[in-house]
Amino acid sequence: MKTVLTKSPIEAARFIKRGGIVAFPTETVYGLGANVFDAKAIAKIFEAKQRPNDNPLIVHVGNLEQIESLVSEITPNAQKFIEAFFPAPLTLVLPKSEAVPLIATANLETIGVRMPKNALALEFLRECETPVVAPSANLSGRPSPTDWQAVFEDLNGRIDCILQGDTTEIGLESTVVDCVSVVPLVLRSGAITLEDLQKIVPETQIYQIQKDEAPKSPGLRHRHYSPRAKVVLINPKSKIQNPKSKAFIGLKKPGADFDLIKICASVEEYAHELFSFFRECDRKNIETIYCQAVSEKGIGLALMDRLKRAAED
Ligand code: TXA
Ligand code: MG
Repeated sequence: MKTVLTKSPIEAARFIKRGGIVAFPTETVYGLGANVFDAKAIAKIFEAKQRPNDNPLIVHVGNLEQIESLVSEITPNAQKFIEAFFPAPLTLVLPKSEAVPLIATANLETIGVRMPKNALALEFLRECETPVVAPSANLSGRPSPTDWQAVFEDLNGRIDCILQGDTTEIGLESTVVDCVSVVPLVLRSGAITLEDLQKIVPETQIYQIQKDEAPKSPGLRHRHYSPRAKVVLINPKSKIQNPKSKAFIGLKKPGADFDLIKICASVEEYAHELFSFFRECDRKNIETIYCQAVSEKGIGLALMDRLKRAAED
């Protein structure tokens, strides 16, 4: 398949309307989209990404009215979050409507809904004239793409089109909040922080998986965010080993030499750079990536979540 590269949201939307799959920028990471009501098109996403079929997709809307066709109920807490934040790097899990095919939600009776904030994403979604399901536009298991070149690296020849936008503003995926239960539960942390959510609904909590319970967010079971290189989390006092080649990313350089190094001025910049740094390390055949641990406050919680997952074997 030839993958068309375009800067035109109108041209990109035409592929969606014809049942194709299109990568597009958002403020978090690039997504790989298909018409939410087209089960055949959605199947192509799973195929192109080699995504396990038990991992549900997030549906993206270009305006608030579209949410009504996707869910059977907007719960009171969800309504508060929508009013406070949308458009935002925030996904709300709600009971799904009959119209949404089960392939979109991996057979769950709930669906994650998000209205992205990125201007080009919104233009594209409005041109599609339908809500668009989209996981991150990477091969399953690879770091999420934060620029169109990373999408090209993973998916060229496997998808219909890439809408070429800028590097994404945030660099980590959206916060996912289960709004079905009475107490909102954060299933995945992101740039909308627990503190932000608690200002709107004070009872909001981080979801802790209970023993013997099926996980509420199936995707979190799968291996994620991983470069080919080994990832090691360190603090400023940790001993650095001497593998053949090593890289460092963090806020303050430790006292060792590295083949590749990225010092970030803030935790936000660290979050923004992480996934593209992982990809750069893989292109340069780095063996071990040392990542500085940060305090789990604000976006530091989301950053540490991704770092810990990447460091798991
Ligand atoms: O920022 C983002 O959310 C990006 C951009 C493209 O919007 N998308 C993204 O999608 O990260 P994906 O598929 O890579 O991650 C979706 C996450 C998974 O962890 C999945 O399990 C969870 O959201 N999820 C989706 N639908 C769900 C549902 N109905 N119930 C619980 N978790 C759900
Ligand atoms: Mg993903």
